[in-house]
Amino acid sequence: MPDTLSITDNRTGKTYEVPIEDGTIKALDLRKIKTDAEDFGLMAYDPGFMNTAACKSRITFIDGDKGILRYRGYPIEQLAEQSDFLEVAYLLYFGELPTRSQLDDFKRTVLSHTIIHEQTKKFIDGFRHDSHPMGAFLSTVAALSTFYREVKNIFDAQNRVIQFERMVAKMPTIAAFCYRHSVGMPFAYPDNDLSYAGNFLNMMFKGTETKFKPNPVLERAMDVLFILHADHEQNCSTTTMRGIGSSHCDPFTALAGAAAALYGPLHGGANEAVLKMLVEIGSKDRVPEFIRRVKAGEGQRLMGFGHRVYKNYDPRAKIIKKVAFEVFEVTGRNPLLDIALELERIALEDDYFVGRKLYPNVDFYSGLIYQAMGFPTEMFPVLFAIPRTPGWLSQWEEQILDPEQRIVRPRQVYLGYDEREYVPMAIREESTQTV
Ligand code: ACO
Repeated sequence: MPDTLSITDNRTGKTYEVPIEDGTIKALDLRKIKTDAEDFGLMAYDPGFMNTAACKSRITFIDGDKGILRYRGYPIEQLAEQSDFLEVAYLLYFGELPTRSQLDDFKRTVLSHTIIHEQTKKFIDGFRHDSHPMGAFLSTVAALSTFYREVKNIFDAQNRVIQFERMVAKMPTIAAFCYRHSVGMPFAYPDNDLSYAGNFLNMMFKGTETKFKPNPVLERAMDVLFILHADHEQNCSTTTMRGIGSSHCDPFTALAGAAAALYGPLHGGANEAVLKMLVEIGSKDRVPEFIRRVKAGEGQRLMGFGHRVYKNYDPRAKIIKKVAFEVFEVTGRNPLLDIALELERIALEDDYFVGRKLYPNVDFYSGLIYQAMGFPTEMFPVLFAIPRTPGWLSQWEEQILDPEQRIVRPRQVYLGYDEREYVPMAIREESTQTV
């Protein structure tokens, strides 16, 4: 059987044969389907890219129906159980698990880049005290591109590695500084004796003690959450990263754009929205009424439920639920947990959610953990952006090195006016007065 698709255009009666490769047809092959020589040719219309593959990738695999997530072939469950975030960052970017000495070198290098230029603090100081830390974070990341002029040499492989290590290293520092500015606390500098996650907790929560000692359970929980958020193939922010990167701008600027995409409540802002929703519901006995309103379309959606790709339990949500109970052993139970458990129980039995394949996603429990650890809700999207950095950069590099890629430039279906004559202001005013 040939790997082709026969398409008959009923407008003309003509049949076309289009090659099928890797389960796709090339959208450009549709262009030859025309009614006459003047016709532009057929296009695919796909708002939100529901069924359009924009790239070929070897980084992250998701089977949304089966609830599978793998980085470079390794199941997320094994990585969350046995690896750590910096090893996962290495894996994502370089494509293979490191040897012991490669990993030691990588960790040493990343930890030696954690300090940010002192002038960066001036930008952060310039934000109002009540600025959202995500707004401050993404603006500071964009500003950092002006500090390293060599970032523009994106086709120099060694230079790209340096920027990768630099950005993975500096994101927690920028994030923590933005937070401390927002609460009026002095910046806490990196402590490179600590692990990546431990150091982040140090920069966030260090008080007057001379040395911050992270709780090992919370440090590991932070690291696992970082692993789970490290990449998720072609989601909204990664597509933004690739889109901006396709113009060949530097990775800091592209990453600031990706972080901006992550900011929204339908993406990285969802766990903040989950907490707000749980607070609004207020108690377990009000859950059925809330579900009724969601189903009737009277209020908001059930935040933390549903996913464009997963039509099964998000595998990250399973791991996060387990981490949540470990964290609550240390911090005490988050009182909102009971409402979340009740919501999940009812929704998973309800035809509305079951029929639409709506299951808890990664954000359903992550906010509860972050809150119990002491992070304010406004920091949640920032906590997502830190670990997504290696994923974004791996995807960006794959994009710029892929010879099939072009600058991103979708088509549109124009439904506006046909050509019409410009009406000078004097005549427009005259006709208004007449009316
Ligand atoms: N609550 C109630 N109904 C929902 C929900 C939800 N959370 N999600 C989807 N639906 C319903 C829609 O109303 C629609 O119903 P209909 O067919 O009767 O019109 C159907 O399910 C399909 O929904 P779509 O919006 O078409 O699904 P899409 O794939 O475009 O949206 C999204 C995915 C944005 C994640 C959506 O499920 C949602 O808004 N969820 C809540 C926000 C959230 O948790 N976002 C985090 C995603 S994970 C991440 O970004 C890390």
